[in-house]
Amino acid sequence: MKKYVVTGGAGFIGSALVRGLLREGAGRVVVIDNLLTGREENLEEVRGSIEFHKEDIRCYESIAPLMEGADTVFHEAAIPSVPRSILEPAPSHEVNIDGTFQVLRAAADGSVRRVVYAASSSAYGDTEVLPKSESMLPRPKSPYAAQKLLGEYYASVFASCYSIETVSLRYFNVYGPRQDPSSPYSGVLSVFMKALLERRAPTIFGDGEQSRDFTYVEDVVALNLQAAAAPGISGQVFNGGNGGRITLNEAWALLQRIEGVRIEPVYADPRPGDVRHSQADTTAVSAALGHTPRYSFEEGLRLTLEWYRKEFR
Ligand code: UD1
Repeated sequence: MKKYVVTGGAGFIGSALVRGLLREGAGRVVVIDNLLTGREENLEEVRGSIEFHKEDIRCYESIAPLMEGADTVFHEAAIPSVPRSILEPAPSHEVNIDGTFQVLRAAADGSVRRVVYAASSSAYGDTEVLPKSESMLPRPKSPYAAQKLLGEYYASVFASCYSIETVSLRYFNVYGPRQDPSSPYSGVLSVFMKALLERRAPTIFGDGEQSRDFTYVEDVVALNLQAAAAPGISGQVFNGGNGGRITLNEAWALLQRIEGVRIEPVYADPRPGDVRHSQADTTAVSAALGHTPRYSFEEGLRLTLEWYRKEFR
């Protein structure tokens, strides 16, 4: 029976991946999460089908035995958020860089076949050309972006120096059910949806004309499963995005239309470290992995809004 490990498996993306693995008939699914931002409730209905370990990825001794002999390790554990990494750079450095190193080291020592690493589109920074393709020179603008980029470099170095395969997926602003809207560092769509359902004005940092390639979480799950299975891609980096681009003003307008309300947003100063535009070139990922995103922005938004509606009731 093949064993799969998901670090950060109690988080928003990690728990969706755990469900995806179980849907695909994965034999053994091991979750490692220190519950800093993850929540056990995210795994509620699958708790009996997985092994859950409350451990910290920075601790090699704790995680190494859990990785031993796994087919694939999906490394989702991280301290996310660009502004958080600017305000408190040390914890995110320790988790995103030191923690990633320990995950790769434990996986290599434990004869894991492949690590699929959750990298970030933030690595691109502000490029002159859109969409952003993997061959562009990365220009990180924040500690978070630099940390995620270093993780990619470490992953590909492990693939070339040790007997382990690695693949990095640069996620583009993932959203969907279970994304926690309650922190000041939460993803913008989760914050927008909470405001919408509570009939409050959201805050938009800047003029709202910055754009993102918002990617529905189930498309990211499918991409991870493809990245785990595809042969001949070790050491490589792929975009995990939709290929589209939506401004924050457009996103808020669409949410108001779906809900049938009109609420003027409050505009505030732009956030330091913010990237202006983000859009994935999906050519390479589609050619190498056969990946095609299935959810349009409006579909994903409606599904997510439905989930929050039930959650907040
Ligand atoms: C970045 C990465 C993303 C990564 C995420 C992890 C880029 C392009 N994307 O997301 O891949 O998953 O970090 O944390 O670098 N905003 C508001 N009002 C709010 C909250 C946010 O206007 O209440 C704005 C932000 O200023 C930003 C945009 O919304 O312009 C998106 O912010 P956020 O959802 O935090 O994600 P990124 O920082 O873009």
